[in-house]
Amino acid sequence: MSSRKKLIAGNWKMNKTSSDAVALVQEIVAAIGKQTDVDVVVCPPFTSLESVGKALDGSVVKLGAQNVHPEPSGAYTGETSVGMLRALFSSYVIIGHSERRTYFQESDGFINQKVLAALKGQLKPILCVGETLGQRESGQTLRVVQTQLEGGLEGVSKDQLTSVVVAYEPVWAIGTGKVATTEQAQEVHAFIRSLLAKTFGDAMAEKVRILYGGSMKPANAPELLGQKDIDGGLIGGASLESRSFVDLVKAAASSR
Ligand code: PGA
Repeated sequence: MSSRKKLIAGNWKMNKTSSDAVALVQEIVAAIGKQTDVDVVVCPPFTSLESVGKALDGSVVKLGAQNVHPEPSGAYTGETSVGMLRALFSSYVIIGHSERRTYFQESDGFINQKVLAALKGQLKPILCVGETLGQRESGQTLRVVQTQLEGGLEGVSKDQLTSVVVAYEPVWAIGTGKVATTEQAQEVHAFIRSLLAKTFGDAMAEKVRILYGGSMKPANAPELLGQKDIDGGLIGGASLESRSFVDLVKAAASSR
């Protein structure tokens, strides 16, 4: 049993209007109640952050955003700053999701700027890393993950590392129903922890939560969450319905 508290984060992506988002989060809050065994985070679209944040008032569920811009303010049309997210009581922000890397050409350097800005502004980054199918098939998985992880965390201090969450999301498993095997996932998670240990030391690396993401569902979660280095999940599809999301929280609670 690890000392790390499990974390289940819902990445709603570009789904739900503000009123649909509130309805979903009200169901989640009602079902989760006051449990504190697992940290729970929901990441709605920007348009629902305020209404979902209000619906979360007094609950144990925390609010996260799906993206952020590194600059504090200025002429960046369509973008959102750390301060704006903090003003809406966001505690977490997903950074470097593969959809942002692919569709919006986000580089490791840009992702790194976001991570540093988030940490500076007391927003916990959930840094996503993961290989494509082609990269896995050509034996590049660990190299790709290493480049993304080290690039994303460049300049992060030891103290700041305790606020960082890493999410390993094999791109070929996202939204495809093709989940990584427990061995595939655990291998990469252990590798990520070994890289963190090399840079930040063993004790610090042991504190970092490494989530798995990619078609995680109540049916496959217990096995994944039972692995030594898998500390929770970043959930897309199964976070859009309260029953499956709450079942994932329960699976995390019973895998402690
Ligand atoms: P999925 O998405 O659970 O729908 O595969 C995970 C993610 O993209 O974070």
